[in-house]
Amino acid sequence: MPSLSKTLTALALLTQTLALTPTKPLNARASTCTPKAGGSSSVDDVPAITSAIASCGKGGTIVIPAGSTYYLNSVLDFAGCTGCDFQVEGLLKFSSSTSYWEGRTAMINIKNINGLKIRSLTGAGVIDGNGQNAWDLFASDSSYARPTLLYITGGSNIEISSLRQKNPPNVFNSVKGNTKRVTFSHLKMDATSKSDNEPKNTDGFDIGASTDVTISNVDVDNDDDCVAFKPGCDGVTVTDITCTGSHGLSVGSLGKGSSDTVKNIYVSGATMINSTKALGIKTYPSGGSHGLSTASNVTWSGVVVDGCDYAVQIQSCYGENSEYCEENPGNANLSGIVIEDVSGVTSGKYGAVTSNLNCGSGGTCDVKIGSYTVKPKSGSGKVLCANTPSDLGVTCTAGASG
Ligand SMILES: *[C@@H]1O[C@H](CO)[C@@H](O)[C@H](O)[C@H]1NC(C)=O
Ligand SMILES: *[C@@H]1O[C@H](CO)[C@@H](O)[C@H](O)[C@H]1NC(C)=O
Ligand SMILES: *[C@@H]1O[C@H](CO)[C@@H](O)[C@H](O)[C@H]1NC(C)=O
Repeated sequence: MPSLSKTLTALALLTQTLALTPTKPLNARASTCTPKAGGSSSVDDVPAITSAIASCGKGGTIVIPAGSTYYLNSVLDFAGCTGCDFQVEGLLKFSSSTSYWEGRTAMINIKNINGLKIRSLTGAGVIDGNGQNAWDLFASDSSYARPTLLYITGGSNIEISSLRQKNPPNVFNSVKGNTKRVTFSHLKMDATSKSDNEPKNTDGFDIGASTDVTISNVDVDNDDDCVAFKPGCDGVTVTDITCTGSHGLSVGSLGKGSSDTVKNIYVSGATMINSTKALGIKTYPSGGSHGLSTASNVTWSGVVVDGCDYAVQIQSCYGENSEYCEENPGNANLSGIVIEDVSGVTSGKYGAVTSNLNCGSGGTCDVKIGSYTVKPKSGSGKVLCANTPSDLGVTCTAGASG
């Protein structure tokens, strides 16, 4: 008689084998794997998905079928995927465990992967970060460290498309580590709290050190930056984006503890609803441990402002107070910054002021604004400026700050 544990091991192996049997013949060029879901939140489906990636990840396809729910109680790592196609037609639901996720960087970890598509062919696929418990805990303990839903570091040729991403504990998508060529398209992203605690720091996209990142046809409803162009990003194109409730399409923050550069950004076709600012640049001033901030060749073109507190906000004293900045003025080098075709109506939070452009007195402010027709809720608007060039392109009123 085999021992019970041996029988169980054999059964487990058999189940795994069955779960991983390619649905196409073995001699087919690329195989397809469908991991077997455990069917209960108490069963972690990550090991089954990881096995599927091990079997089919080299140029093959992994399918999360329509109508299915996979419970992800641990980090989903794409190690072993090269040129693989991960098709999410059902629901990937992460656990809400605040103890498991505490201090972890990523829920979906895409590290040094070359060639990966995570997409839904039907458009029905959902990735749920299940972040409510994390937001509630963070509200009473701001030291609670929460993971990013989808974290790309290094690698190349990554496509994330036609999915819904919802309720990340923290940031939705992050790209850094000198990743090359990433495309995000046709995404619906929303973070909505059921309690009084806001979905804090749910940045839509944090684009750090990378080249050639494209974001198009995305709809983001969140509680922090919609897209943040972070230190080291070079070559980001954003087209057709709608952001609701965010902190806008924002360069920075730059220069906190090192010299930082952001360059070659092109944003066109943005609808910005109820954000603190539609677009902006945040740089730390000089002095202390702050580094030099450089932003060059950044264009925002075709931005509709709908109930945003500011249309445009340039901050050269970020993270410090005005007394500090009198002693240590902003020294950021802003060059080739173009803001054109900005229309719509602000929220009224700052009365008649529609934009606040505070360049540093110790820096370079090569900013041009064209076709700016933003209005306050009532009356005629004004734009506050400091240290801006005479050919800025809008009529300035003194008194910019921040
Ligand atoms: C400015 O950035 C855009 C977007 O990345 C790029 O297409 C363009 O070539 C850049 N221009 C220069 C002069 O580098
Ligand atoms: C924007 O804010 C206004 C005022 O608070 C609110 O009435 C409106 O529903 C909000 N719009 C969206 C799309 O959330
Ligand atoms: C500002 O940055 C641009 C682009 O990187 C560079 O060409 C220029 O020399 C810099 N200017 C200053 C004053 O540092």
